[in-house]
Amino acid sequence: MKALLRHQIEYYSARAPEYDEWFYRQGLYDHGEAQKRQWEREAQIVRDQLLGAGRFAQVLELAPGTGIWTQELVKIGERVTAIDASAEMIAINRAKVRSDRVDYQLADIFRWQPQIQYDMVFFGFWLSHVPADRLSGFLTTVHRALKPGGRLFLVDSQKAEQSTSAEQDIETRDDLQKRILNDGRQFEIVKIYYDPAALTRTLRAHSFEIDVRATPTYFIYADGSKSG
Ligand SMILES: C[S@@+](CC[C@H](N)C(=O)[O-])C[C@H]1O[C@@H](n2cnc3c(N)ncnc32)[C@H](O)[C@@H]1O
Repeated sequence: MKALLRHQIEYYSARAPEYDEWFYRQGLYDHGEAQKRQWEREAQIVRDQLLGAGRFAQVLELAPGTGIWTQELVKIGERVTAIDASAEMIAINRAKVRSDRVDYQLADIFRWQPQIQYDMVFFGFWLSHVPADRLSGFLTTVHRALKPGGRLFLVDSQKAEQSTSAEQDIETRDDLQKRILNDGRQFEIVKIYYDPAALTRTLRAHSFEIDVRATPTYFIYADGSKSG
């Protein structure tokens, strides 16, 4: 399992320069204008919910990647702590977000422990990469990282055709996908698609007051708080 987690970090480091093609529907992820418009409409539902969440003094973003969501979090957070295990991802994020209110930390989330408690914890397209047998430990860390009543916000993938690219994401075994970079390099990573109701139950069992919702086709998202 340790090798799989390491492999996952190597994959995202190698993918960093081309990562945004996925979210902005370019290259292999370009499925035409209509699909792009629908994707963007659904992303906007999530963005609006996040930007409407209020203002927060201390925000923790786990696995921020290239900064697609960091650039939103700096609009609602006084300070953002962004923790990612890939230096390549952090470099792109830093160049994109260009804010001295973001503190970047290069760390493996599965070894990291919070030193303070935050007003909000956010993670985008990360939970689906947490191996099933690490989920409970990860959610316990998130709970510990939040102040009492602190906000939890997550967004992730629904299993949908054209969410990725047929050439790139091939299910190999349960919870695993084969990913191929533009230059042909291959990796195997964890990818778990959550049913909103089941994930709501799991989050509630870890003392979060939260409901997981779905956009029409592409995303699941949850906006709630630490209850215990
Ligand atoms: C699918 S990307 C999500 C990026 C960003 N949150 C977004 O929504 O676009 C997953 C991110 O997790 C990071 N990552 C993978 N394994 C990690 C680990 N063990 N600890 C910290 N970050 C990790 C990768 O470097 C990558 O930036």
